[in-house]
Amino acid sequence: MQRITVKLASNPYDVVIGSGGLQNLGQEMLNSGISAPRKVLVVSNADVAGPYGATVLESLRSSGFEADSLVIEAGEDQKHLGTVSQIHDAAHRLRLERGSLMVALGGGVVGDMTGFAAATWLRGIAVVQVPTTLLAMVDAAIGGKTGVNHPGGKNLIGAFHQPKLVLIDPDTLNTLPDREFRAGMAEVIKYGVIGDPGLFDLLESCDGLSEASALPDGVLQTILERSAQAKANVVAADEREGGQRAILNYGHTFGHVVENLTGYGTWLHGEAVAIGMVAVGELAVQRGHWSRDQANRQRRLIQKCGLPTVWPPLDPSAVLETLQGDKKVQDGTVRFVVPDAIGAVSIRSDVNTDEVKACLAALS
Ligand code: NAD
Ligand code: GLY
Repeated sequence: MQRITVKLASNPYDVVIGSGGLQNLGQEMLNSGISAPRKVLVVSNADVAGPYGATVLESLRSSGFEADSLVIEAGEDQKHLGTVSQIHDAAHRLRLERGSLMVALGGGVVGDMTGFAAATWLRGIAVVQVPTTLLAMVDAAIGGKTGVNHPGGKNLIGAFHQPKLVLIDPDTLNTLPDREFRAGMAEVIKYGVIGDPGLFDLLESCDGLSEASALPDGVLQTILERSAQAKANVVAADEREGGQRAILNYGHTFGHVVENLTGYGTWLHGEAVAIGMVAVGELAVQRGHWSRDQANRQRRLIQKCGLPTVWPPLDPSAVLETLQGDKKVQDGTVRFVVPDAIGAVSIRSDVNTDEVKACLAALS
């Protein structure tokens, strides 16, 4: 098991990564200072509870925890306050107390909602994240962002609530659909571009990047460790996104436009981020931040992972309007995370409308 610490001053916690981890969840919680006995509510959905629910409950019970489970409906369209209410209802039924705990067993949707339910039950009880998609393993489960969607937009309701432990068992990816795996690879490439050129080089040198089962021996573990380390470093430096944490939004500004204007669900989040990274790469070339060669390397790697790279046919004025509605707009200015090299990005508030239009024209 590899252990990476998210070094937050007031509430540091570990990300534990290793094959067979699910069987050891109870013991890993004890190792992290979460003592038993205490009540634990495991929240999951049917895709995940089926293959992994029993293993998790058994592991918790054999370590002395009083564990029960709740299975919610799967899907991004379930990520709303009504589902959080179901989790609260279960917490009430099981009489969860201040010292009780929730375990999120699933992808980013389960993780975000369980984290938010834990943040709000009795004004905040502990949560452990057990991510089962690549995207949640490398991104959503680490860093404490929790929440749900509002009819007005994605993730508009939420809270920062750091987990006590993140346990990643790569074996759970065996049942993940390949398309979902590839969507997670977009976030892995992101870590390469924003700060880990060695990870980018490693990915460039590998084959079989579009399916977990096709990766060369050891590469999945390396991908998980380096991505978790990258996220841990950024979160430790800027827990509440006062500044530098925004670099994690690389590719997301244009990506959110794609998700929004093509209709949520047309592209998976990671697929839209892949398109968004290509788009902001083009913007960076046009502004002279990085070379055409670097932009081409990024595009080739994204393609190698089986991810889309082509900007969809979107009305430029709708794109500009949607950019203005982005959550990350500050004082009316859209902030872009722009690559300066493979391994370095900067946050720019000086991208003007004409530059965006020129970029969109080049992409079309
Ligand atoms: P998801 O949670 O919807 O999971 C994708 C699909 O895979 C679902 O149908 C799920 O049931 C299924 N699934 C999950 N694990 C499986 C497994 N091991 N085997 C078989 N099927 C499995 O999607 P996601 O990509 O994990 O997460 C997307 C969500 O994460 C979005 O809501 C996004 O806003 C959020 N997110 C949050 C953060 C954060 O920092 N909190 C960061 C990135 C994304
Ligand atoms: N996924 C972006 C963040 O955690 O800040």
